[in-house]
Formats: sequence, structure tokens, C-alpha cells
Amino acid sequence: MSTTTDNDAKSTNTWTGPRKRWVPIVVLLFVAVAAAGLTWLLTNIFQRKEETKQPFTQVVELTDTTYDPAVWGKNFPKHYEQYKKTYEDTDGDFIKVDPTDEDPREYHTISRIDAEPRAQHMWRGYAFAVDYTAPRGHEWALVDQMYTKRTKEPFKQPGTCMNCHASMPEVYDKLGNGDRMAGFDAMNKLSYQEAVQHASGTIACIDCHDPKTMELTITRPAFMEGIKKYKASQGISDYDVNRDASNQEMRSYVCAQCHVEYYFKGEGKTLTFPWDKGLTAQDAMAYYDEVGWTDFQHAESGAPALKAQHPDFETFSQGVHASNGVTCADCHMSYQRDGASKISNHQIMSPMASDETINSSCLTCHHSTTEEMRQRVDGIQDQWQNSLNVGYTALDALITDITTAANDGSATEEQLTKARDFQRKAQFLIDYTFSENGRGFHAPAYSQSLINQATDYARSGQLALRGVTVENGNGPAVLEEHSPAKDQ
Ligand code: HEC
Ligand code: HEC
Ligand code: HEC
Ligand code: HEC
Ligand code: HEC
Repeated sequence: MSTTTDNDAKSTNTWTGPRKRWVPIVVLLFVAVAAAGLTWLLTNIFQRKEETKQPFTQVVELTDTTYDPAVWGKNFPKHYEQYKKTYEDTDGDFIKVDPTDEDPREYHTISRIDAEPRAQHMWRGYAFAVDYTAPRGHEWALVDQMYTKRTKEPFKQPGTCMNCHASMPEVYDKLGNGDRMAGFDAMNKLSYQEAVQHASGTIACIDCHDPKTMELTITRPAFMEGIKKYKASQGISDYDVNRDASNQEMRSYVCAQCHVEYYFKGEGKTLTFPWDKGLTAQDAMAYYDEVGWTDFQHAESGAPALKAQHPDFETFSQGVHASNGVTCADCHMSYQRDGASKISNHQIMSPMASDETINSSCLTCHHSTTEEMRQRVDGIQDQWQNSLNVGYTALDALITDITTAANDGSATEEQLTKARDFQRKAQFLIDYTFSENGRGFHAPAYSQSLINQATDYARSGQLALRGVTVENGNGPAVLEEHSPAKDQ
């Protein structure tokens, strides 16, 4: 410490003479540069202010109970128009179907289990093996949940499902008599069929915005609680997201209320995010192991399996964009010029949907072309898909081997238990990255590492059935009979 100070002092002394002689010029230059800088800054601030100031006329007063987005639309017609457009097919994955009484939708999206039968195999014994489709825009969130086979007989779902598929402030207010936390608890305990009677529409303005200030706000108790636990794991106590988060963080946090892995905790079926130990897949798995959580028993192998669901925020958090402060909104709601103003695109969709969306998102930071951006995304997604194929092949083989061994008695109970535990681990990691919606893009290296780890777990499980133990799925394989560790 003192050495550095000495050195600094020395170098300062050495340069005192020459610097003094240059003072008039330096001062002059400084003043000139500062003046130019200030002009630039003022112009810039002025422009940004002008740009972000919406040509906004308050037609109606918005309050805590203005639930209907159409009413908000009177003040913000452009935002409302874009928001309604989340109804459109922007990435070509809609399929026309014949509506029935059971399911009146005219369009579904492509089935992800038909496209990937190994996923269907992985989920056998669980609702996802029956119906799982590609996501689409927010306008569909409530109807897609109402009519998926996963909320129909024989499957029974709790009201908890609705937390991310409908506009919640109204439902929480109704069920909790104005106390939203009480409303959350009350809704989770209902059956899905009862809860859905209280919903009047899909995700709306009031789910992301404070009606009085239009600032971003967190409305979901599960996220408030989850992010608090996560921050505590990082040494930050008593974190209150609506008080402590920066605006920049909120541009991801509003999305992270829903685009995350979750489970239903305890008798109250409380929506809970497994973030006590951190945000990685391994952190979530360690949490589930500790609390003894299992989503379902695999129908063929008998493994105590976990189901991962859209960990978009957690995965994004492991990538280079997050570490550079880039947010979900930067890519999925990029600014669009509208005359003299800019507005955040409320037709939330893939940034790769068109040249226009690539331009307004990626190309504001990357000095490149739309074509090159497409190639980079395709390249990352192809590599991810290739690795995923290897991982799925290994997992599929493990499930088949455990099932065979359990049926023909070729493995001991102990070996079966070990192999099933490896299936649980391998399956969670494969499922985690498969169910994540960036298909490898949100964190390329991290996603690859999950698949590598999963493949290793799956192959270790196969070895376990043959009496070969592998420590933690990482170390060298050792035959049980010859293991020196076993002798002690
Ligand atoms: C924590 C928030 C959250 C909860 C709770 C939640 N979902 Fe979702 N759901 C999402 C998000 C985000 C998507 C879009 C991303 C995706 O499909 O992976 C989605 C997509 C879907 C879809 C369309 C794609 C598909 O999976 O076929 C259906 C149907 C669905 N959910 C049903 C349900 C049901 C049933 C429940 C209760 C068991 C539920 N959701 C609970 C956030 C949630
Ligand atoms: C209240 C929960 C919720 C919030 C908040 C939320 N989403 Fe979603 N999102 C969903 C659900 C549910 C779906 C799937 C709807 C379906 O398939 O029917 C979805 C679908 C999507 C899709 C797929 C669209 C497509 O065309 O395929 C994108 C992209 C998306 N959300 C991004 C975001 C971003 C970015 C944010 C934050 C600005 C956000 N979401 C906030 C629940 C939510
Ligand atoms: C650096 C830009 C970037 C950021 C930041 C980003 N995404 Fe994405 N996201 C993408 C790209 C690129 C894809 C792949 C789109 C495709 O394949 O068409 C994608 C895909 C998705 C999809 C699936 C869309 C579809 O049409 O199937 C969802 C949902 C999504 N992201 C949600 C999020 C959420 C939530 C966050 C923040 C936690 C986020 N993204 C952050 C660029 C980004
Ligand atoms: C899924 C979350 C979400 C929903 C739903 C949503 N917004 Fe936004 N909105 C955002 C985000 C993110 C921003 C960017 C805010 C920022 O950076 O401060 C934004 C910004 C805005 C702004 C500020 C100006 C601008 O364009 O950046 C207005 C006005 C606005 N939204 C109106 C609406 C209206 C009206 C609705 C309903 C029709 C709506 N929003 C629904 C997330 C949402
Ligand atoms: C707000 C600025 C911003 C936006 C918007 C943005 N990026 Fe980036 N991107 C960055 C930064 C910063 C890095 C890290 C650069 C570095 O560390 O060298 C990066 C890195 C990348 C990388 C390298 C990834 C890796 O893991 O090494 C790719 C690929 C990329 N961006 C693609 C995209 C695409 C595609 C989009 C649009 C969907 C996009 N970016 C939007 C700022 C942005």
C-alpha cells in the first residue's frame, strides 16, 4: 500500500516541472474539450428526453384497480396495439386444427414431443409426455393453459398454475379482499378449474407496470421471495426487489417473474423458485435433493425424476450478455422509432423474427449485418442441438437399460438405486436446457457444459448397473470388487 503511494508521489514529482510549463495549453484544451463534451452531453440528454417522452395524452386516470388493458390503451394506444399483436404467428410455428367442444382453439403450435420423441420417453409417467408444445405470444397464455391436455382429466392441477398465465392483480385482490399476498395463498390452494373462473384475461399492463407512475413493478410473490433468497445466498440480506432493484435490472426481472424454473411447495401448493443456493441448474438440483423434492416417478425405470421448466432467466444469467448488463427487454422489446419518439416494442417475440427486429435489437450494439447475426445465432443453436443429440442418446440408453435390468433381475437393488439417481441427475440437466427457450443462445458455453455433465451422468448410470462405480459421475471408473476404497 505505502509503496504504491510512494511510487505515485515520486512519479508525480518527476512530472511536476514539465506539466507546470504546459499548464496554459492544457487548461485551454481542457476547457475546449469540456465545453464540446458538455454540448454533446446536453444535446444527447435533450434528444433522449425528447425521444423517450411519449406523445402521451392522459385520457383516463389509471389506478391500482384499472385491470383492463384496453383502458390503459386509451392513454397508450401504440403500446396497446403492439401488445395485442402478440396474438400473431411471428416464427411460423402455428398449426391449423379443427376446433372441438373440448378445445375450441383454431391454431395450436408445433408439438415438441413429436419433434423429439426422446423427450417424450424421458417424461413417461408425467403430463408432459402427453402434451407439450412450442410457446407463442402472451395473448395466448391463458387459453393455451386452459386447453392443454395437461389441465384435463386425468391430470389434476392446482390454482398455482395461473400465476404466470393470467393477469394476477385482479385475481389476488378478489381472493384476498385487497391483500394480494393473501390472494396468492388462497388461489394456490384452489383447483385449477376453480381458480380459472376468477381470471378475466391474459398477462396485462398492470402485471408489469405501476399504474400511477408507469414504472416497472414486480407483482408476483414467488419472484419477490425467490430473488430475496438468491440475494441472501450472495450475502445481501433483506432484499426487497421493488425497493432495491435498478431500472436496468427491472428490465429483466419483470420477465423473470414467469420465465423461470419453479415447483409447488407443500400442502399450500405455494409457487416457489429453487434459488436458495444460487441460480445454476446444479444449485437447483442441490436444493431439490436437500428438500427431498421429486416431480414424478418414471413410469418405466422407476427413477425419482425432476421436471425442469423454462429456466430462461437463470440460463440468461450465466451468459455474457447478462454479465455485460444487457437485459431481456434489450433483445425482446427493443426500441422502435415512432416519429420523434422511441417506444419499447410491446409485441414481445423472438428478436430473430425479422430484419427489422434484428436491426433494432442486436445491431444497436453489434456492428454487423442482419445476415451475420442470423448466422451466429444459427451456429450456436446448431452446436447446441448436436450436443443435445449426444446427451439424449445417452439418457435414452440409460432409461432403457434400467428398465431392462429391473425386469430381468440382472442388477442388484443397490445398483438400480444408483442408476436411478444418475437418471434423475442426467434427466434434470437435459430437460433444463431443452426446456430453456433460447435453444443454447442465452448462454452458449454454459448450456454446452450442462449437456456434457448430463451425458457423463447417463453413462455413469449405465456403468453402475454393471457394477462399476464412478465417484460423483466425474472421477475415474472403478470396478466395485477391486475398489480399494471399498476395503476400508
Ligand atoms: C413460474 C411461472 C409459470 C407457472 C407457475 C406455470 N407456467 Fe406454464 N408457462 C410459463 C412460461 C414462461 C411459458 C412459456 C415458455 C415455455 O413454453 O417454455 C409457459 C408455457 C406453458 C404452456 C404452453 C407450452 C407448453 O408447455 O405446452 C402451457 C400449456 C402451460 N405453460 C401450462 C401450464 C400449466 C398446466 C401449469 C401448472 C402446472 C403452468 N403452466 C404453470 C410459465 C409458467
Ligand atoms: C406473467 C407471466 C409472464 C411474464 C411477466 C412474461 N412472460 Fe413471456 N410468456 C409467458 C407465457 C405463459 C408464455 C407462453 C404463452 C403461450 O405459449 O401460450 C410466454 C411467451 C413468451 C415468448 C414467446 C413468444 C413467441 O412468439 O414464441 C417470449 C419471447 C417471451 N414470453 C418473452 C418475455 C419477456 C421478454 C418478458 C419480459 C419483458 C416476458 N416474456 C414476461 C409468461 C410471461
Ligand atoms: C442478447 C439478446 C437476448 C437477451 C438478452 C435475451 N434473449 Fe431471449 N432469445 C434471444 C434469441 C436470439 C433467441 C432465439 C430466438 C429464435 O431462435 O428465434 C431467444 C429466445 C427466447 C425465447 C423463445 C422465443 C421463441 O420464439 O421461441 C424466450 C421465451 C426468451 N428468449 C426469453 C428471454 C428472457 C425471459 C430473457 C431475459 C431473462 C431473454 N430472453 C434474454 C435473444 C435474447
Ligand atoms: C411483460 C411486461 C410488460 C407488459 C405486460 C407491458 N409492458 Fe410496458 N414496458 C415493459 C418494459 C420492460 C418497458 C421498458 C421500461 C423501461 O426500460 O423503463 C415498458 C415500457 C412501457 C412504457 C414506457 C415507454 C416505452 O415505450 O419504453 C409505456 C408507456 C408502456 N410500457 C405501456 C404499456 C401498456 C399500455 C401496456 C399494456 C397494453 C404494457 N406496457 C404492458 C414491460 C411490459
Ligand atoms: C445492449 C447491447 C447488446 C445487444 C442488444 C446484443 N448484444 Fe450481443 N453482446 C453484447 C456484449 C457487450 C457482448 C460481449 C462482448 C465481449 O465480451 O466481447 C455480446 C456478445 C455476443 C455474442 C458472443 C456470445 C458469447 O457467449 O461469447 C453473440 C453471439 C451475440 N452477442 C449475439 C447477439 C445477438 C444475436 C443479439 C440480438 C438478438 C445481440 N447479441 C444483442 C451486447 C449486446
